[in-house]
Amino acid sequence: MRAVLCYAGNVLHFLGTLMSITAIYPGTFDPLTRGHIDLVERGALMFDRLIVGVAANPGPGKRPLFTLEERVELARIALAHVRGVEVEGFDCLLINFARQIGARVIVRGLRAVSDFEYEFQLASMNRRLHPGIETIFMMPAEQYAFISSTLVREVSRLGGDVSAFVHPRVQAALTGKYATAS
Ligand code: COA
Repeated sequence: MRAVLCYAGNVLHFLGTLMSITAIYPGTFDPLTRGHIDLVERGALMFDRLIVGVAANPGPGKRPLFTLEERVELARIALAHVRGVEVEGFDCLLINFARQIGARVIVRGLRAVSDFEYEFQLASMNRRLHPGIETIFMMPAEQYAFISSTLVREVSRLGGDVSAFVHPRVQAALTGKYATAS
């Protein structure tokens, strides 16, 4: 009887593995903010595995302040408390990376209507490149709706307090970057 139950348990576990959903949350994360953390915490509750994909090639017109390695390391530190989340850098097309890691879902954050047009283009292009991977949008908590990495960098560069917007290690890294730049 015990052997039968054990066998059934193994079969269920195997089926569960087959049906598990991996999602990717891609971005430039230059640097990762509390808004991003909020989204990762929500996403981690929805998916079996959530990969935070840090893009080496960011969106058009962006020249990151932090190197890819720095952005990955800071994201790992800031997300260490979230179970089931991994942080990986990638240096190729997002959709190819998503396929490589077996992701069936791309998660993106929508803060305001102004985000929509760009996100619509991105999601449509990704669907055209690979129709089997679905993009879903999530809203961060409202207290983070106005945060962006650009604003955080700007406030920090000019000596403002960004502790409410980023993890302490990210804040220290920003201070360090601007101290060496001046
Ligand atoms: N809370 C706070 N801020 C948030 C947020 C949230 N939940 N979600 C997004 N943001 C902010 C970010 O801080 C960022 O601000 P910034 O523009 O001032 O830097 C902005 O919203 C969007 O950034 P992010 O979420 O990091 O995404 P991105 O637009 O930089 O990322 C990629 C775009 C990386 C997904 C896209 O360029 C890509 O896929 N690159 C890989 C190459 C590729 O496949 N290209 C073809 C795509 S079809």
